[in-house]
Amino acid sequence: MRRKLFTLVAILTGSFTAADAEVESDFHQPDVIQKIAFGSCSNPRKGKTPMFDAVRKHKPDAFIFLGDNIYGDTEDMELLQKKWMELGDVEGFRKLRGNTTVIATWDDHDYGVNDGGKSYKKREESQRIFLDFFKDPADSPRRKRAGVYGSYTFGTPGKMCQILLLDTRYFRDELPRAKGPKAKGTVGWYVPTDDTSKTLLGEAQWKWLDEQLQVPADIRIIGSSIQVLAHEKGMENWGNVPHQRKRLFELLKKHKADHTFAISGDVHFAELSKMDFEGYPFFDLTSSGMTNTSKSWAAAKNSFRVDESHPVQNAGLIEIDWADKSLELSIINKDGEKVLHHPLKFSELEFK
Ligand SMILES: [Fe+2]
Repeated sequence: MRRKLFTLVAILTGSFTAADAEVESDFHQPDVIQKIAFGSCSNPRKGKTPMFDAVRKHKPDAFIFLGDNIYGDTEDMELLQKKWMELGDVEGFRKLRGNTTVIATWDDHDYGVNDGGKSYKKREESQRIFLDFFKDPADSPRRKRAGVYGSYTFGTPGKMCQILLLDTRYFRDELPRAKGPKAKGTVGWYVPTDDTSKTLLGEAQWKWLDEQLQVPADIRIIGSSIQVLAHEKGMENWGNVPHQRKRLFELLKKHKADHTFAISGDVHFAELSKMDFEGYPFFDLTSSGMTNTSKSWAAAKNSFRVDESHPVQNAGLIEIDWADKSLELSIINKDGEKVLHHPLKFSELEFK
């Protein structure tokens, strides 16, 4: 059965208007896009927020907020609302939203609780406030289901980019913590679990993802608030629940989802990671944070890191050359300069 489908229009206002269309994605916008920026870990109360202006220098077609977009950290919904309004008042953000499509998922702090999962009492109320802030239309699929996950396609056949924004909070089970002192190279407490009943995405979201990977697309971007590959530093990441990460890889392989890579945030520094899955080179470009940075976290162990980590205010940039069938993954600093860039041919990202 075909889903109820939607077309994005109102780009200039940053809001989405939904209308029926023959596209099997939660949201579709027919304009071909070439440049996508993303960021995370943005606290308007930190004062300086130069990254919005740095992003605007690159004139992206879309901007993805990957979570910790504010530091809500409360069960007081009036306070949470107030903190979202503070982001809305940031001049750089207002200008970005004024002329760029802005889409978003959340992480723990804007969800409402540090390192939070399904036990957060205010998750339904928080979801409503989140969707209102990001101007999801009244008939948005995200208003009809639990969790803020959503799929977005941009472009036309041959130049179709699908962005899958995951919700790694709403359904997530509690994670096991290590006992005793922290191991060398780690900065957090979490250890991988072998309890395969533990979920990160929850069954409804897994089913949705399975369906969404059947939507035709020439490039797919998996947007995860937490890191997908880097799992040795003891922080929250997909490696805490290795069976869930394996399920993600196996799902991508099942659908032969070529030209797919991940983007992530959360850790207060930037890095690019790469992991081989049965011959497929899976990349995860982490950009964090727009305001928050940590040198000690950037020094933690990541055997999958490509190049160096960057503990500076930063944002991610994805540039697609449709004619050349190539793309470039970059990290920009507060001046808009690229401090990391990694070119890739589409042909490098294919399942065997
Ligand atoms: Fe986080």
